[in-house]
Amino acid sequence: MFLNFGYRYLRYDIIRDINLELKNKTVTYLVNQQSDSQKEGLNLMTNDLKQIESLKIANELMIISEAAAFIISIFVGLLNSWILTLIFVIATISPGFIQKLFVKDIQNKAAVWENKNADYTQAVTDAINGSKTAMLYDVQIPVISYVVKQAKQMENALRSLNYTQGAISTLIITLADIFSFIIPFLIGAILMFNGQIGAGTLVMIVQLSNDFINPITMILDQLNQIRSTKPIWDKVQKAINFNNKNENATNLSFNQLSVEKLTYTVGDKTILKNVNFTVNANEKVLLMAPSGFGKTTLLRLLVGQLKPTSGSIIINQQNVTGNSQKSHDYFGYINQKPFMFDRSLHFNLTLGKKYSEEDLNEAIKLAGLTELVKEKGLDYQVGQNGNNLSGGQIQRIEIARSILAKRPILLADEATSALDNELSLQIHQVLLKNSNFAVIEVAHKISQQEKEMFDRIIDLSK
Ligand SMILES: Nc1ncnc2c1ncn2[C@@H]1O[C@H](COP(=O)(O)OP(=O)(O)O)[C@@H](O)[C@H]1O
Ligand SMILES: [Mg+2]
Repeated sequence: MFLNFGYRYLRYDIIRDINLELKNKTVTYLVNQQSDSQKEGLNLMTNDLKQIESLKIANELMIISEAAAFIISIFVGLLNSWILTLIFVIATISPGFIQKLFVKDIQNKAAVWENKNADYTQAVTDAINGSKTAMLYDVQIPVISYVVKQAKQMENALRSLNYTQGAISTLIITLADIFSFIIPFLIGAILMFNGQIGAGTLVMIVQLSNDFINPITMILDQLNQIRSTKPIWDKVQKAINFNNKNENATNLSFNQLSVEKLTYTVGDKTILKNVNFTVNANEKVLLMAPSGFGKTTLLRLLVGQLKPTSGSIIINQQNVTGNSQKSHDYFGYINQKPFMFDRSLHFNLTLGKKYSEEDLNEAIKLAGLTELVKEKGLDYQVGQNGNNLSGGQIQRIEIARSILAKRPILLADEATSALDNELSLQIHQVLLKNSNFAVIEVAHKISQQEKEMFDRIIDLSK
């Protein structure tokens, strides 16, 4: 009993530590992937890691304790009759080879289930995020039935996996029982009648055989379960092997950015073709093009979130095309749809970096956030997607972030399109009168007065 207490304590201690380490590694990997899709990552962090815990780690720990039980009973058995013990062991292990025949089948079924699970996770996320839209237009039924459909596909895949695994397990246990009990028992009886072992030894070894048959059949079953986690484990391993290079470039000097013959194609659709322009230090450039032209795509190419089909991006005479590791430190980025963390206003401004109070207040002032901060305080919770803020306030937080980060080139994607004319003008004055950075703004609609504040206007459509 006391050994068991100790064992369990240790076991859950180990499981907790491994879980924490895996979660740490996995989230590090996911953040660094910058993927646009949520479902894979969400599923990996929740369902997949739980499977790894219950099917892989728990079973591996159990195998250790069962192997110990097995070795102790084998040792006692060998002391009494090594021949009979050997026959028992060989007979017990042999059904395990049958398992090998089914490994591929189980792994394929596990992979199907894994994919269905990701789809289901995404469907649930969408249903919850889209619930307000669904209620407004009375379309709960199609939204709900889509989730139920995905759930059904996932449950069917799971049933198929579990059934296959269960059937193989039953087959192996039955064979192990036949091989490891009936056959050795008969041989033992023959040995006894021939006078090679005593009746007492036979009874003892038959009795003891439970202690080596049970661990072996359980280990075989557990190996089976561990193998089923292979598709998931392959993914987790990618995360474990991922090397997080988090080098922070500071005080980058910048003299020139040049875009040469940049072309970007998705499938057979050419979004940008042969784009050329140059921007010098502190220059304020406006790129104009109609909606849907590819302005956002161009900015994402500059910052390295997308790789161009051809052409180059050169910063300070150094080719950084498609190398976001090298290029991103030069850029601040004011998104059209800024991302808000479900945390405090303070976190959303600083993004967890340490800034002096002076810098922070300066950025708040420049971005036109003084009133909001005065009214709500920096600890104000902005809510999921910044739901407790207005669109204009979110836009100004995004602008403050880029001012705080002090990058030498500021990319602005229709940065003030959500703001009223007066605020838009104010913010443009802040961004365009500042000689600490260059600005590349893309826009399809902007007032004459604001246009005149730029050094250069390029019409992309021409
Ligand atoms: N990941 C993508 N896959 C396919 N097409 C895309 C993708 N991203 C953008 N597009 C298409 O590229 C075009 C330009 O998009 P975008 O750069 O957002 O335009 P803009 O910012 O000028 O309004 C659009 O027609 C859009 O549908
Ligand atoms: Mg856009």
